[in-house]
Amino acid sequence: MTIQTDVQIIPRTGLDFSLSNEIPTFWFGGDAFKTRLFDAHSLLTPAGEGFFIRCLKAYKNQIRDSRLNLEVEKFILQEGQHTLQHRLSNNRLKAQGIDVDKLESDQQKETERFRLRISQHLGLALTTAYEHITTITSHALMEHPELFSDADPNIFSLYAWHSAEEIEHKSVCFDVMQNVAKVKYPLRVFALVIATLSFQVQVSMLTGKLLRHDGFSFTQRLALWRRGLKWMYGKNGFTRIQLKHYFAYFRPHFHPTSFGDMSGYNRWKKIYRLTNDPLIAGKMIQKNDFA
Ligand SMILES: [Fe+2]
Ligand SMILES: [Fe+2]
Repeated sequence: MTIQTDVQIIPRTGLDFSLSNEIPTFWFGGDAFKTRLFDAHSLLTPAGEGFFIRCLKAYKNQIRDSRLNLEVEKFILQEGQHTLQHRLSNNRLKAQGIDVDKLESDQQKETERFRLRISQHLGLALTTAYEHITTITSHALMEHPELFSDADPNIFSLYAWHSAEEIEHKSVCFDVMQNVAKVKYPLRVFALVIATLSFQVQVSMLTGKLLRHDGFSFTQRLALWRRGLKWMYGKNGFTRIQLKHYFAYFRPHFHPTSFGDMSGYNRWKKIYRLTNDPLIAGKMIQKNDFA
């Protein structure tokens, strides 16, 4: 296992994942549950990342450390690009009859209403908690591409790039929360519990909504969920392999850079540096083709 030493945050722009409408509706090995689970994540990305950026920006003027200040700027640039690329991916769903614009604008309004009602401290603690959830998912995807072997390579490449950048900026919010806002341990862990519950509820509800939109009957949906939950929580399941890393956040002296295997990220970065192409990097990672 390789642990992080000094990782640079590199905002990458002008990327092209060629996410055309020719990609099959059920792009994840023909599996409707896994496809819609990730489609739900993608649909929630613009509102979620907008929330993170605004919560972090609220502290920008209080950051005295120039390195951290620069990292915050790069964090904002990276999250902005993630939103842009996920919007392009979400456009495919419009052709499937899904009202992406309404879904997104409803989420944006709801998220902003919520942000204005809570304290800045809670907003930052929630953002940091969501970043932890994103980080553990990103490490799992980079370390276990075999779980995505039958996913569409272009969409997988989008997630691989997003994961790589999440790994690069995984400590930014945490450092602002600890060193600038000086959020105490109880609020930090409370926020993780709240973020985990709300994230699970939001993703599950949207996944269910998309599967209903696809026309699956109740019995069919039940069978899809059963198989999908096994993929997530069964032996070596995608969510199950993240649990140890997830619970590390409850350690009083936790820091994001002390956890998470960097091997997959390092492989992705090496290929990206050689090719300057996130599609090639994603496809090679997916095929374990980097010996
Ligand atoms: Fe992101
Ligand atoms: Fe992030």
